[in-house]
Amino acid sequence: MKRLGILLSGRGSNFEAIADSVAAGRLDAEIAIVISNRREARGLEIARARGFPAVCIPSKGLPREDYDRQLIAELKSRDVDLICLAGFMRLLTAEFCREFPMRILNIHPSLLPAFPGLDAQKQALEHGVKISGCTAHFVDEHLDAGPIVLQAAAAVLAGDTAETLSARILKEEHRIYSEAIRIVLAGGWRIEGRRVVVD
Ligand code: GRF
Repeated sequence: MKRLGILLSGRGSNFEAIADSVAAGRLDAEIAIVISNRREARGLEIARARGFPAVCIPSKGLPREDYDRQLIAELKSRDVDLICLAGFMRLLTAEFCREFPMRILNIHPSLLPAFPGLDAQKQALEHGVKISGCTAHFVDEHLDAGPIVLQAAAAVLAGDTAETLSARILKEEHRIYSEAIRIVLAGGWRIEGRRVVVD
């Protein structure tokens, strides 16, 4: 069985959706470890309540390189096949990315390459786009930049606030993230340039 390592910093709803997919048998994988860089992350509580191995590795005050080395050690000791960033609010070092090439996924709440970085939903609203959405993509050392596995669109409606748009996009995040993980774990894909080509 393929082993997932989940990295999160907060609410953990994408992690919950992944855990639900595993529990429902939609995703043939096991959650080997949940790691948070913040002790107060709700995602950490959910992981413990659901009986998954969960640890906090606090990042505050640590140089990025030192922190990422701790992460690498923990993930390797858990023998993970795929790392899923689920609201993990840190940029990973090149060293970390080199350790796990094409084995790190992220979910981002916009149709990349539009609106990378923080507050993507607010950026979309302020830009005035009529359609936004979410992107499940491989992670490299650049922000929200790696090859795209799946995307889903969400309409921007008149009267939307960052909160209402975020909620509409989040539903799609929960749906496509598990599906992207399933595709990547299944194999039978390759990277051509920037494109993820599934056979
Ligand atoms: C999501 O919007 C995700 O796209 C972004 O961070 C948020 C995490 O939410 N990367 P949650 O912690 O999964 O509820």
